[in-house]
Amino acid sequence: MFITLEGTEGSGKSAQARLLAARLRAAGRAVVETREPGGTLLGAEVRAIVLGRDELDIATRAEALLMNASRAQLVEQVIRPALERDEVVICDRFADSTLAYQGAGRGLPTDALASVIAFATAGLQPDLTLLLDLPVEVGLARKQAQAQANRFEAETLAFHARVRAAYQSLAAAEPHRWCCFDGVAPVDQVAGDIWHVVAVRMGLAA
Ligand code: TYD
Repeated sequence: MFITLEGTEGSGKSAQARLLAARLRAAGRAVVETREPGGTLLGAEVRAIVLGRDELDIATRAEALLMNASRAQLVEQVIRPALERDEVVICDRFADSTLAYQGAGRGLPTDALASVIAFATAGLQPDLTLLLDLPVEVGLARKQAQAQANRFEAETLAFHARVRAAYQSLAAAEPHRWCCFDGVAPVDQVAGDIWHVVAVRMGLAA
């Protein structure tokens, strides 16, 4: 079972990924938790470049390729081996982030991005994608309370609004894969809603 979490900034994905992993482990399942960009040594280097290095002035197409270089490494070194061991993989962001951020956000054509993604993943797709949806202002305000803004958090409200809308249409286009949750709701409530969906999908006692 390959589960991904998606959402705009400050939607609470990372907290939900941890809570879901803990519940699955408590139910006796082996779980690999990972994230994008990152999750491998190469991915960590790419992450530092794409999030932190403002002075590089990264071209939009280069950004898309860097995200997918991290993804290719993660799929080959971490995700596929874990799925082959019959473990559950929970990934904080995956290919849909590229469609939402580099596609809708930056304006790169979706069909070209889809080809790059297919190459990077060798066709691997999530079984289930959890979307944490919330007004972008709410998520950005949560982030501002934390650390210094990265290259994406520093983008305009209009950018983040395009990303949110893209997630909503991706979810609507593939309803069997996506499940949408209210990112404004209390963390425990969202965790309970997510657990219900995952437990039903996996045939575990909810
Ligand atoms: P991160 O700090 O992990 O943000 P979050 O906690 O919101 O997940 O930073 C990851 C950033 O990278 C996030 O702003 C989205 C962006 N991103 C892309 O633009 N394209 C991608 O393909 C991926 C995986 C992430």
